[in-house]
Amino acid sequence: MRDVEGIQFLQWCLPRLQLCWPGYRKVRRQVYKRIQRRFQSLDLPSLTDYRIYLEVHPEEWEVLDSCCWIPISRFYRDKSLFLFLEQEVMPQLAQQIGANGGGILRCWSLACASGEEPYSLSLLWKLKLQARFPNVRLVILATDIDDQAIARAQRGCYPVSSLRDLPENWGGQAFDHTVEGFWIKPEFRESVTFLVQDIRRVAPEEAFDLILCRYLAFTYFDAALQSNTLRQLVGRMQIGGALVIGNGETLPEGGLGLTPWSEKEGVYRRA
Ligand SMILES: C[S@@+](CC[C@H](N)C(=O)[O-])C[C@H]1O[C@@H](n2cnc3c(N)ncnc32)[C@H](O)[C@@H]1O
Repeated sequence: MRDVEGIQFLQWCLPRLQLCWPGYRKVRRQVYKRIQRRFQSLDLPSLTDYRIYLEVHPEEWEVLDSCCWIPISRFYRDKSLFLFLEQEVMPQLAQQIGANGGGILRCWSLACASGEEPYSLSLLWKLKLQARFPNVRLVILATDIDDQAIARAQRGCYPVSSLRDLPENWGGQAFDHTVEGFWIKPEFRESVTFLVQDIRRVAPEEAFDLILCRYLAFTYFDAALQSNTLRQLVGRMQIGGALVIGNGETLPEGGLGLTPWSEKEGVYRRA
């Protein structure tokens, strides 16, 4: 598929999926490849034919949507953010809970891909913070639209490249190494529950102290869907709770009353 043809196709279909072209510029080639595999599997000779096919078969839009999921992640992606979570955000949240007699520090990792992000939180808590807050328990809900990514997360086996940003020695403490890869140890799994969920249709019911929504809504969604998603997120934040977005992402205008905790790290707070 020629680049220009692919760009034109994405610029035509992404708005119809409530996704935005600028977010896809860098990852367009992996998306084209999937779309190409799809229309070839339908025995269609070209993108133009696929476009006609989409117009005649509305159910195909769901398949096209799944070609646009970007599964990239790794442990401790954005190391300085994880340092900020360790030194400021999680201790302050845990302190509030501890001061009220103890309880659960509830986190939601939205768009968790294959589990790298929620397991990073679990590692951080167990290896650095838990001993300081004995009456606080970390509970993490991790959701993603992609059932195969969720299955990989539940399996918990990773290539060495996924672990490259972890602090030194953590690999040895948190994983068992076999020929298949690095398996996350059971004690780091127990606080994490995985669910297949599409944030456009459904969101968890409980309120969270910490929500991570990185490299999905505020990169790939169009303006209207970003605003809707932010409304969902804020509706599920405890007062005083924190929302983390990705590096280079910004909140829709107004930010629904969230105040920056650290704009550099993309952390916002519900006052
Ligand atoms: C780039 S990954 C983000 C991974 C992780 N948050 C991180 O920062 O490393 C984007 C994830 O969003 C998921 N996704 C795409 N559309 C979604 C939707 N509507 N609802 C929930 N997850 C979605 C994809 O399956 C993919 O795993």
